[in-house]
Amino acid sequence: MTDYEGRLRLGVNIDHVATLRNARGGDLPDPVRAAQLAEEAGADGITAHLREDRRHIIDSDIDRLMETLRVPLNFEMAATDEMQKIALRHKPHAVCIVPEKREERTTEGGLEVAREENKLAGYIAPLREAGCRVSIFIGADERQIAAAHRIGAQVIELHTGAYCDAHAEGDFETRDRELEMMREMSAYAHSLGLEVHAGHGLNYDTVAPVAAFPEVMELNIGHFLIGESVFRGLGPAIAEMRRLMDAARV
Ligand code: PXP
Repeated sequence: MTDYEGRLRLGVNIDHVATLRNARGGDLPDPVRAAQLAEEAGADGITAHLREDRRHIIDSDIDRLMETLRVPLNFEMAATDEMQKIALRHKPHAVCIVPEKREERTTEGGLEVAREENKLAGYIAPLREAGCRVSIFIGADERQIAAAHRIGAQVIELHTGAYCDAHAEGDFETRDRELEMMREMSAYAHSLGLEVHAGHGLNYDTVAPVAAFPEVMELNIGHFLIGESVFRGLGPAIAEMRRLMDAARV
């Protein structure tokens, strides 16, 4: 069973530094520089999603992150042959398998694991053999979590998007229901021996209740932090998130 007494980790997702860079072409702002600043500001890991369409992070970003990072890289990817080859070449600390649709603006839902169990089991086996921790980005759904466990994933990352959207829309009934589901499913996943992470859409207003789940070991947060860094700077934006996470944990 996973030890979940440890400090809650913060993974900083740097995708949207690359979004800004790609809006103009050229090399700036550099997401690898953002990753280095995030490390200095206390990030426990860096997350980057290499999408099939390369709309933000590009292959050379992953090359440079692997060369320069001192903290672990959580490599987000769709379950495609191309991404598997890239992951096996780099062998990052963790790979997080996410659903990906070309037309979506961001990762809209969790992965459908239950219907694709055999295929996904075969897909992640070589990644595990290469030493990567395999995480599955997933909704707070018992059937999907049980399937993630059966296929041999070591980690699930709960999709916090619906909870954050409901909060933003002022629909507190839905928000609280989503939160309760995530609370129950964190405990369920932990009871199976899965390590539990969470992320998507979290900000200063929504982070504390999720950070308070004792089974959650890591939060991955990107868009809000990169946006907030325009106003405060990246280091202070991360430091404030860290403070809120630690405060929620006691
Ligand atoms: N976790 C996963 C698996 C994601 O796909 C994303 C978005 O790329 C995040 C966390 C971070 O979400 P956000 O950028 O909304 O904080």
